[in-house]
Amino acid sequence: MKRIILVGATDGIGRALAAQWAGRGCWVTLTGRTPSKVEALAADLKARYPDATVNGVVCDLRDRARLEPAFAEAIAKTGHCDLFVYVAGVLKETDGETSVGADDAEMLDVNCVSAAVMLGLAANYFRAAGRGQIVGISSIAGDRGRKGNPAYNASKAAMTTFLEGLRNRLHPFGVKVTTVKPGFVATKMMAGRTGLPWTAPVEVAARTIARRVERGDEVFYVYRRWGLLGLALHHVPRFVFKRFGPA
Ligand SMILES: NC(=O)c1ccc[n+]([C@@H]2O[C@H](COP(=O)([O-])OP(=O)(O)OC[C@H]3O[C@@H](n4cnc5c(N)ncnc54)[C@H](OP(=O)(O)O)[C@@H]3O)[C@@H](O)[C@H]2O)c1
Repeated sequence: MKRIILVGATDGIGRALAAQWAGRGCWVTLTGRTPSKVEALAADLKARYPDATVNGVVCDLRDRARLEPAFAEAIAKTGHCDLFVYVAGVLKETDGETSVGADDAEMLDVNCVSAAVMLGLAANYFRAAGRGQIVGISSIAGDRGRKGNPAYNASKAAMTTFLEGLRNRLHPFGVKVTTVKPGFVATKMMAGRTGLPWTAPVEVAARTIARRVERGDEVFYVYRRWGLLGLALHHVPRFVFKRFGPA
């Protein structure tokens, strides 16, 4: 039975991934910041998927002192870990013109600093074990800096680069590292945003992510067309992107 730790599992893509893996009879340890949400999700998954083993760990990813103890608690509750997934993320609304320090700090904290701490702990654990797989949910938003939300772009750029570094560090030790750039997925993060193209239902996204993680893919998008768009955006010259690039 595969043993999985999911960081940020109480909503959206994380919650749908937890259901995917519990549905396959895996041992799933969920982490989330709100005890009642963690307990309710664990109870729901146990009831729906009696073959799965489900545990919960409470961890607010903005509480730096809690990260290492929460990782140790998650490992202890999982027995050992085969797959470590960092899915938590924050995308704050902006007016597209001014920066709000507290919002930028929260996005950088959760999407980048705490991600690096947790993923780094998982990397050390798997390196010592000589096997395992790490997954980080990054974003196409990290491929270019955009005027609308530079802090979110920067947080995801950092995560993508951090994961690439871990992949290069860990491949001699038999550890796989997967970067997911989902494209738009219908979760609370996207609530209220209308007219978004190619938006995947969250269950579709989770099913695709689970399948491609299982296959050991290194970098992928939920819909392949996002990869083509990403490639095109990457090659738009800076002066053109500055004037006409998307928010
Ligand atoms: N949806 C998209 O279109 C899209 C596109 C590209 C990338 N992504 C990335 O995919 C990942 C999942 O996003 P989503 O769409 O599923 O978003 P979501 O529905 O808003 O879920 C975000 C998750 O992160 C958790 N989280 C946020 N701050 C936290 C904190 N301080 N401590 C612990 N957990 C915290 C949330 O916990 P609570 O349940 O307590 O709120 C929730 O479980 C994110 O990294 C996001 O950047 C999403």
